[in-house]
Amino acid sequence: MAFTLADRSQSIVRSPTVHADTLSSRRGFVPSSSVRRLSRALRPLLMRAFLVVLTVVAIAAPRMAAQKVELSIDASKPGAKIDRNLFGQFAEHLGHGIYDGIWVGSDSTIPNTRGIRNDVVAALKAIHVPNVRWPGGCFADGYHWRDGIGPQRVVRLNPDWGGVIEPNAFGTHEFMDFIDQIGSEAYVSVNVGSGTVHEASDWLEYMTAAQATTLEKERAANGHPAPYKVALLGLGNESWDCGGNMTPEYYLDRMKRFSHFVRNYNPAQMEKDKMLKIAVGPGGGEQRWTDWTETVMKAYQQHTWSWDINGLSMHSYTVVKWPPAFKSVGFGEDEYAQILKTTLEMDDLIKKHSAIMDKYDPQKKVALVVDEWGGWYAPLPGSNPGFLVQQNSLRDAILAALNINIFARHADRVRGANIAQMINVLQAMILTDHEKMVLTPTYYVYKMYVPFQDSTFVPVTFDAGSYKHDDFTLPRIDAMAAKGKDGKLWVEITNVDPQHAAEVELNVTGINAKSASGETLTAPKVDSVNTFEVPNTVVPKPISARAQGSKLILQLEPKSVTVVSLEQ
Ligand code: AHR
Repeated sequence: MAFTLADRSQSIVRSPTVHADTLSSRRGFVPSSSVRRLSRALRPLLMRAFLVVLTVVAIAAPRMAAQKVELSIDASKPGAKIDRNLFGQFAEHLGHGIYDGIWVGSDSTIPNTRGIRNDVVAALKAIHVPNVRWPGGCFADGYHWRDGIGPQRVVRLNPDWGGVIEPNAFGTHEFMDFIDQIGSEAYVSVNVGSGTVHEASDWLEYMTAAQATTLEKERAANGHPAPYKVALLGLGNESWDCGGNMTPEYYLDRMKRFSHFVRNYNPAQMEKDKMLKIAVGPGGGEQRWTDWTETVMKAYQQHTWSWDINGLSMHSYTVVKWPPAFKSVGFGEDEYAQILKTTLEMDDLIKKHSAIMDKYDPQKKVALVVDEWGGWYAPLPGSNPGFLVQQNSLRDAILAALNINIFARHADRVRGANIAQMINVLQAMILTDHEKMVLTPTYYVYKMYVPFQDSTFVPVTFDAGSYKHDDFTLPRIDAMAAKGKDGKLWVEITNVDPQHAAEVELNVTGINAKSASGETLTAPKVDSVNTFEVPNTVVPKPISARAQGSKLILQLEPKSVTVVSLEQ
């Protein structure tokens, strides 16, 4: 609504500009006497027209002010905790996600610690990655953990992703070392599709046992006497598709056995920090998926001591239609508007599945874990299509912010999310090419959102207005606020509109906010990207608010993501 008014008023404002241009372009032109007479006769008319224009502009001025957005934050009404696991990452044995992206081997000339790239580790430490999901993805349901331990690795093929050689050089110990180096936690997906309960149960014993079992000794002999911590356990991946094409009933029977027998023995995880088990959940909104959620959650309601789940996974990519055909760079406002419109469907999808979960689990014990999400576009020309290589633009930064805000608004149920994928695959944080590394616009969003990890949701109300382009209408503004662990009030505001800046008035109840400062992320174009050659096109810049009475005023650039903290 606000957009319509503002848009109209702008076209009115444009007329005098055109008039002035016309005059200046005619400079030097000497009018004939008849033309002069005509112009004298027209003068009163022109004068009247000019006055009308002035009046319309004067009336329009307050309407332009409607482009302003008033944001009311009530810090006295805290909501759910925004779980740090909403900022989880996903690393699959796919393309250069692991090999080259994380693992270069200790003989590499690329600086590394025990084979793991130092530059990547430093970058990931800065975004406080809460957990990394590994080894897949589809890859997980064909993965056999013994292939990746000990001095002699089993070399296989990777049929899911390009049919390339999988050297298994990066296995359990290397993954856990990586997790340790970046200060994160392990989210391990076990093979429910082609593996056995026995195999998965042995893997967990190998990783977590503290007593002198044969598997514990084998782990110690392989270099790690102390038990590893496994924070999250994925009971299969997309078992309705690449994970085995199972019916929900068949999956449920199988999953119950994995839930019971695949045990965590780490003494440090017995009372607190217990391993959370995540069952396979839906991959969309159609009946097939609602049936899946119904089946698993109905069984959960009846569950006995012998099996349990703590989360239900959900996968949802922003793709518009399969196969992914939208470009990841070299696109215009049409694709910008369409992709962002599509990504907002995440909200309805969460609502739909949350409603089913609420029926069977009103206390919200089972988390909805969106452990694969992000923009999925056409592979970059010249890349192996099985490697899912795409660029990452300012549009992806905005897409990430919109989704994180959706998750935060559902923080009572959505307590985990893993963007796909961390390095070199799909909507990545980091791109590498041999020794080169570049941080993507999405990386910077994750960096800006660090204060929201384990913060407490605070309600924000605002009239977003609309951004319209062709057939697509989206909220012009999105916003989210939270009380951080540092005690500060943090606010995120996204200006989706790529053409118009926004003036945001922050009204805060519950604290006496005197100033606000933080960072804003924008770039010249909707498809601006960071490259190895020009890495700083889309990087955050400082921003601060000006105080106006009891309000704080923030000027947001078009197509921008802004995070500020309020000072009392
Ligand atoms: O992230 C790429 C793939 O997408 C994953 O392997 C699979 O789970 C999903 O279909």
